Amino acid sequence: MTRADMLIVGSGFFGMTVAERMAELGLHVVVIDRRDHIGGNAFSEPDAETGIEVHRYGAHLFHTSNGAVWEYANRFTTFTPYVHHVYTKHRGEVYPLPINLGTINQFFRSALGPEQARQLIAEQASELNSEDAADLEQKAISLIGRPLYEAFIRDYTAKQWQTDPRELSADVITRLPVRYTYDNRYFNDRFEGLPTDGYTAWIERMADHPRIEVRLSTDFLDEGHDLSKSATVGRLPVVYTGPLDRYFDDVEGPLSWRTLDFEREVLPVGDFQGTSVMNYADPDVPYTRIHEFRHFHPERAYPADRTVIMREYSRFAQRDDEPYYPVNTAADRERLLRYRELARSERDVFFGGRLGTYQYLDMHMAIASAMSMVQNRLPEALSLGGVRR
Ligand code: FDA
Repeated sequence: MTRADMLIVGSGFFGMTVAERMAELGLHVVVIDRRDHIGGNAFSEPDAETGIEVHRYGAHLFHTSNGAVWEYANRFTTFTPYVHHVYTKHRGEVYPLPINLGTINQFFRSALGPEQARQLIAEQASELNSEDAADLEQKAISLIGRPLYEAFIRDYTAKQWQTDPRELSADVITRLPVRYTYDNRYFNDRFEGLPTDGYTAWIERMADHPRIEVRLSTDFLDEGHDLSKSATVGRLPVVYTGPLDRYFDDVEGPLSWRTLDFEREVLPVGDFQGTSVMNYADPDVPYTRIHEFRHFHPERAYPADRTVIMREYSRFAQRDDEPYYPVNTAADRERLLRYRELARSERDVFFGGRLGTYQYLDMHMAIASAMSMVQNRLPEALSLGGVRR
């Protein structure tokens, strides 16, 4: 590429959607990523030993009710008819999630109908008043009652947060879905599926544009290259999707995140758990869940004698860990406001995506948010009135 009209930091769904849209508007766009691959956390790759597609940064399920996002995604990939289901192991039994009539009847050894189950849960939840809840435990009990909370939420949440739920804020949860039907489809969205050729193929097609150049293993915050922060800000419009606090050198203090550790293993069996995701609700198992990737693509010809599993462990992120989920304490929220103020005063730098805005975004939300930035903010800010549309 001979010229760059714009720099995008981060090749996840946010950055690549902005890149593709702006390239279509006629701009020459350079995308950099500090990692050696494209795609951000949605990146997937074939496991070297088995060829089974593995989601390196945790399982990624695509779902959306946004028609414009679905139409946009379908320009780059087709989707399989995969429908996500999750199960959980508790005291030697497997239950369907989210908590539904099947879970309730199995747990209480009953055969209740929807109305009877609703009454039972309301009765159990009446032990505490939701508005008075002082911590996560009280809030959860006020929503679904103590027995279901203790079985399915308490120890799982403690593992996720490495914190006793009695020490977690009540506003970590606003609702706990309970379905009074046997429907255990995990997502309620209008559209759902997995990209037929995988996530990386999808994102590579987004990048496959004559006006897009991607440079990998290039960290915007490292000095000594022509696309660093000091070499570009003020000279070129920049869309930044890296961590907000790092952009400002942590001047207001670090924003806190949870991270995950993944333990991948190839097992000499054709099927380990019979489903793609099994949660482990009990405290004696240190991991939160196991993913078995072959079940994401039952239509593929994967080996019949080997399977890939990934155990997931959750903990608070240290400085050099991958930031995954915002912790969002009161101190974080205050810092965030100060960082937002700083961000507003950065001329021609646009902060977006999960890390750049310090909020958890699903893929469809990252795409929608990027589309909105392209539609509402960038053309005017970049004076693109005359650019071909
Ligand atoms: P994303 O994190 O994908 O990309 C940001 C990119 O910026 C990264 O590639 C990073 O390397 C790069 N970067 C950061 N700092 C940089 C710097 N200084 N210089 C250069 N590059 C830099 N969504 C969903 O819809 N369904 C799901 O099931 C899941 N599952 C899921 C599991 C887990 C564990 C996580 C953490 C996330 C999900 N997601 C998800 C969300 C999804 O992975 C992704 O976070 C969203 O699509 C947001 O995309 P972004 O582009 O904002 O960030």
